[in-house]
Amino acid sequence: MEILHVSVECYPMAKAGGLADVVGALPKYQQDIGHIAKVVMPMHRTKFLLDNEWEVVHKGGFNMGSSYFDFTIIKEKTNKLGFDLYCVDIYGLLDREKIYSYDDDTERFVAFQIAVLEWLRHWQHQPDVVHVHDYHTALIPFMMKHCFVYNQLSKIRTVLTIHNAQYQGWMNWEKATYLPAWDTWKWGLLDWNNTVNPLACGIKCADKVTTVSPGYMKELFQSANGLEHLFYLEAYKCFGIINGIDYAVWNPKTDTYILDNFTSKDVSEGKTLNKKKLCDDFDFNIELPLFIFIGRLVGEKAADVLPEAISTAYENFGEIFSVLILGSGEKNIEYQLELINKQHVGYYNTQISYNEKLSHQMYAGADFLLMPSRVEPCGLNQMYAMRYGTVPMVRRTGGLQDTVIDYGEENGYGICFSHANTQDILQAMGRALELYKNKKLLTQLRTRMMSVETNWETSAQQYIDLYLSI
Ligand code: GLC
Repeated sequence: MEILHVSVECYPMAKAGGLADVVGALPKYQQDIGHIAKVVMPMHRTKFLLDNEWEVVHKGGFNMGSSYFDFTIIKEKTNKLGFDLYCVDIYGLLDREKIYSYDDDTERFVAFQIAVLEWLRHWQHQPDVVHVHDYHTALIPFMMKHCFVYNQLSKIRTVLTIHNAQYQGWMNWEKATYLPAWDTWKWGLLDWNNTVNPLACGIKCADKVTTVSPGYMKELFQSANGLEHLFYLEAYKCFGIINGIDYAVWNPKTDTYILDNFTSKDVSEGKTLNKKKLCDDFDFNIELPLFIFIGRLVGEKAADVLPEAISTAYENFGEIFSVLILGSGEKNIEYQLELINKQHVGYYNTQISYNEKLSHQMYAGADFLLMPSRVEPCGLNQMYAMRYGTVPMVRRTGGLQDTVIDYGEENGYGICFSHANTQDILQAMGRALELYKNKKLLTQLRTRMMSVETNWETSAQQYIDLYLSI
């Protein structure tokens, strides 16, 4: 089978979050099991773009509303990612440093989708499946079926994967004129609550809809930022498929980003050496348990509760643990977290940045990873932590609930709690501090979590089975 993935993120070309990791890994594993998988994404101006060689494979142009745009499709020359990677450059719209947060994001993403279809209709052999990811690409199934100019693409099967239903890409109805002429009887497919809702449209028009864990799929019927009822209507074609993690990138045995490589057999020594590196770099005491948080500093990840929770933990337990935070996001949360730097010198540090290398070193050297997320469709960080023998401390939600078993339960290895608030986080930290004293149990749990299967093979096959079903 031939599958074309369409996404605005793909690791290592451009990453803002887990979407990039998934789109950078799933196609590789689909190739491994004998299929052809390709990725097409916007040409963001990233380091990967500048460091690699590209060839031009197509040039074209299209109208969007009253504007005309030229576009170019380029392909990474060496196939170094294990699949063909294509980027779309649209003059004036896509050649930029950031992936999101421009005033004209609507125009940028709609134009990207049109360019992809303009290119696709010139392919000699069409793919069997077009697999789109999140709202930025969710208008594609509609356009393939209902824009007259893409009639020849209407038989290609489409799958939409929702990595996050909070963002839906709402557009003013006036902007519906951006789409190439479509059958206006079908306006209801674009609409949800009197606006054009690209995510809702994708759910209605794709042949299958998936999200990234069975647990999150169930939650969407109760809480989907306004789309709950739509999930009821379309339930028959909705599935949860858990993400895997890319063992070629996330393997403590071979990881070149970490100081000392290790396996489950020498996990205690390996982690100690890696922890020493972190403690030296941040001036922490290696004897104390080290908690980390890695991720976007936003409400969805419950990063807003961290400042109070951490300060209260130092008040209640004393300076008997260290905390290292890596991420960026809402300015107010960044500011509050940075304030703690001055209050607990030698025990606490915030790194406001995105730093892939440091994140690997943190998974390798930390004792506990905190993930109190309010919403977590799958979550990859808890799986990275497990692979590196770092105890995941997670709120019971979405994919976190599907992947972490509390160490109080049979075969468990993590610490689970129910609410994203100071009280629950303190309780969880209290349990972590106790566990840290019991080195024998801690080593047992580390060995156990490192052997949990979180690889892509099973899930990659589940996607293939899903494609076959349509
Ligand atoms: C989004 C979700 C996260 C998921 C990732 C990859 O970033 O918030 O939970 O793991 O997508 O699917």
